[in-house]
Amino acid sequence: MEKIRSFNDNIDIKNKRVILRSDFNVPIINEVIQDKTRINLSIPFIESLLKKDAKVLLISHLGRPKSDKDQNLSLKPVYEYLKEKINNKIYFFSEKITNKTMDKVRFVNNGEIIFFENIRLNEGEIKNDENFAKNLSSLGDIYINDAFSCAHRKQTSIHKITKHIKSSYAGPLFMKEIHSINMVLKNKKSPTTCIIGGSKISTKLGVITSLIEKVDNLIIVGAMANNFIKFKGIKIGKSLVEPGSEKIIKKIYDKVGNSNCEIITPFDFAVSGSADGEAIFKDLNKVSDNEIILDIGPQTIDRISKIIDISKTVLWNGPAGYFENENFSKGTVSLAKKISDNTNKNSLISIVGGGDTISSIKNNRLNVNFTHLSTAGGAFLEYIEGKNLPAIEVLK
Ligand code: 3PG
Repeated sequence: MEKIRSFNDNIDIKNKRVILRSDFNVPIINEVIQDKTRINLSIPFIESLLKKDAKVLLISHLGRPKSDKDQNLSLKPVYEYLKEKINNKIYFFSEKITNKTMDKVRFVNNGEIIFFENIRLNEGEIKNDENFAKNLSSLGDIYINDAFSCAHRKQTSIHKITKHIKSSYAGPLFMKEIHSINMVLKNKKSPTTCIIGGSKISTKLGVITSLIEKVDNLIIVGAMANNFIKFKGIKIGKSLVEPGSEKIIKKIYDKVGNSNCEIITPFDFAVSGSADGEAIFKDLNKVSDNEIILDIGPQTIDRISKIIDISKTVLWNGPAGYFENENFSKGTVSLAKKISDNTNKNSLISIVGGGDTISSIKNNRLNVNFTHLSTAGGAFLEYIEGKNLPAIEVLK
């Protein structure tokens, strides 16, 4: 594989304007940040740049604005949080980025930050627009992308900017994500187990089919598993299924037939009449017409735990159930604890990723430890699938 240009300590950044693309796309409700993991992980690198007397021009997106005036998607709460956490001077730049912006941000001193408002409020951003890329790149001397979670987006601050700036590099978090996933894909120790959860199977078809060739056990949990169970002709009541999933599942089973991979799907469940109800435990074939499958059951948890015990590498993406209701979080919590315990005992290497997976761990205030906790969702899956990610391609 061609090498990615990564930022290192020998690169002189004193007096330089460093455009740093981070990912502060975090859940915010009523201006309160719900999960600060992404921000907290980014802070040490920002501080290291400031310590070396760089001028940091900090960029992120937030959500998917419908118009350039979508004030619900302001990064102001993140700015307030950064101000609390970082001692250096930090300014918020709320205007659009144009060819006049340089004159307005020229005043920034070494060891200071200018934090730009949600970059997607500039209409050139998602269009990967040439002119916008010129304006943006003209603000800095060096560009560093430390937002691996956006690496699958062909957008200006991720992609086109590199065409117009002299030096561009991947930052340390970006590189850590890649090294960790490579450790599982390329240098993995067998048996390898992959646990895929969440709800939409169509978004994960690519990754599932590609994993069949790479792993020994593929465990399907979460609402996604309902499609597999229904495919086998088993009743799943009113549980969530994706229309047209039969074709997808058939493709998956056809591929498994020619491989050494075993697919494991749940065989008992926690069900209820509604998502905010109490858990009732049911075996396969016992789910009634008015019930919804909301979590994996104790026997399935036990079987997965035994598979984890004999695995040397575990990759997990997507919760096992509707963890937002505590009654249905047992599957996800048990998986997290088991993978963490075995990581601590050094019996396996673990990579855990995906926004929902992290939220489920945070929601339950779990004190868990993994070899690598990826903050990336879509990018994580696309990289595993073997796709060429736009951000990586331009940093080679
Ligand atoms: C993410 O949360 O996965 C990244 O920030 C990318 O966000 P996007 O899917 O809105 O591009």
